[in-house]
Amino acid sequence: MPAHKIFNSDWLKSSFLAGIPIKDIMLFYRPSNFFEDSAHVDEPGQIGAINWCIGGQGSEMLWYKIPTSAPITAKNAAGTWGSNWPVTILTNLDRGCITSTPTIVRVDVPHTVVMKDDPRWCISARLNISFTTWEQYVGYFESKNLIIHT
Ligand SMILES: [Fe+2]
Repeated sequence: MPAHKIFNSDWLKSSFLAGIPIKDIMLFYRPSNFFEDSAHVDEPGQIGAINWCIGGQGSEMLWYKIPTSAPITAKNAAGTWGSNWPVTILTNLDRGCITSTPTIVRVDVPHTVVMKDDPRWCISARLNISFTTWEQYVGYFESKNLIIHT
C-alpha cells in the first residue's frame, strides 16, 4: 500500500530528506509459533526492504541460497502469489532477529520467518529507487551513512 496510508506526510518528508524515499509499505502479521514450510522471493525487481517489528521476540528471519530447482508458484502467507521452495531443499545462508530497530533485509533470495511465542507485526518499507543487486542496495545506505553493520 502507498506509504502515505500508514505514515503522516511530515514523517515521510523527513525520511525523504534523510535519503530514504519510502514509496510503499507492506504489513505482515505472524501469530505465535506460526510455521511455514517454504521460503519465497519477493516479486521481481524487489532487492531489499527496511523492516522493523512490533513484538516477535525470539522470531528469526532466515535467508537461503537460491536453489537450482524451479520454484513453485503459490500463494504465500501474505496471500500474494510468489515463487516458493520447500525449506527442506534449501541451504541456509544467514538468520537474524528483526526487532523494533529498522533493519535492511534482503528479499531477492528465498527467505522466511520462524516464529516463537510472541506474535509480531512487521512493517516493511520499500524505496522509490530501483536497485539491481543487493550490493547496490547496501551501498546506497552506506553512501548516506545510514547503515550500522552489526
Ligand atoms: Fe518476502
